[in-house]
Amino acid sequence: MAASEVHVVTGAFGYTGRYIARRLLERGVQVRTLTNSAKRRCSLSGQVSVLPLCFDDPDRLADSLRGATVLYNTYWVRFNHTTFRHATAVHNTLRLFEAARRAGIHRVVHVSITNPSHDSPYEYFRGKAVLERALIASGLSYAVLRPAVVFGREDILINNIAWILRRFPVFGVFGDGGYKLQPIYVEDLANLAVTEGLRDADVIVDAIGPETFRYRDLVRQIGSIVGVKRPVTGVPAGVGWAIGWGIGKVLGDVVITREEIGALMAGLLHTKSSPVGSTSLTEWATHHAACLGRRYHSELARRKDLHTPYVTVS
Ligand SMILES: NC(=O)c1ccc[n+]([C@@H]2O[C@H](COP(=O)([O-])OP(=O)(O)OC[C@H]3O[C@@H](n4cnc5c(N)ncnc54)[C@H](OP(=O)(O)O)[C@@H]3O)[C@@H](O)[C@H]2O)c1
Repeated sequence: MAASEVHVVTGAFGYTGRYIARRLLERGVQVRTLTNSAKRRCSLSGQVSVLPLCFDDPDRLADSLRGATVLYNTYWVRFNHTTFRHATAVHNTLRLFEAARRAGIHRVVHVSITNPSHDSPYEYFRGKAVLERALIASGLSYAVLRPAVVFGREDILINNIAWILRRFPVFGVFGDGGYKLQPIYVEDLANLAVTEGLRDADVIVDAIGPETFRYRDLVRQIGSIVGVKRPVTGVPAGVGWAIGWGIGKVLGDVVITREEIGALMAGLLHTKSSPVGSTSLTEWATHHAACLGRRYHSELARRKDLHTPYVTVS
């Protein structure tokens, strides 16, 4: 790789994108970000060139990718909401892939999800399957990375489990809580992305970390690590969703959606693949125990305020 190469990262002032951008900068690669949050304050500002994700103007979108060799795509929306939808994210990402092809991008490293499927009852997983198929058919060289849950300082799920444990006398898991998930550390995911960005082979990788948890055990483990051992009790999925909805109303956020609960309970955040990440969530959480869950991490706050940095575990 020539040091003068330019790589494009979507969302470098967001979560996963910032770690990928940082890794690339450390390797001497010039980084350009395409983002909806060009004004968000970030330690990387000034080190990366910044252009808008202008999905509505395909020519401009292609121009914003010209001169670069690799595109790392993290762009997606977590759930359907009044102001954003999965269907829009699928449409926009298809435009991004087409713009990459027109701009002469050589390789795309695309962040997907474990177990995407065209037949999935969950739009998130169907949309990701559509995008993977389109990328494969595009003729571009590709690496598709499929994480289950990404943990790190900016993460939402793990931090907010700790937040709930700290504030409520009991923690309700959906159903029996026996379904599994395999979290990967965001730095491990970024390393994998950058490594794959420098390769040529077309690959699809389950981007999972070294530990597999049953959901109820994950909750217990986090409680024990942050020093709040609450009773963990099974509740019907609908009841769990309603409680989450109520907490979200108070906080002005969506804590969890019915789809997310369904996918979790269906075991879609679990694979049979070998781990590619080496950082243990248990060790990372122990290291950050004093701060984990002290502040709530809000998805909607990140989308409403495009200037303020993501709240992090310090
Ligand atoms: N976080 C996890 O636990 C997890 C688990 C499995 C898979 N993934 C996948 O990992 C990728 C990166 O996710 P992330 O958690 O790191 O998210 P993120 O940084 O918060 O967002 C990634 C990108 O999507 C854009 N974006 C997010 N929500 C949006 C919205 N509602 N409207 C418009 N743009 C939006 C961001 O916009 P800006 O340009 O404004 O920053 C950023 O460019 C996604 O493809 C996701 O499906 C994440």
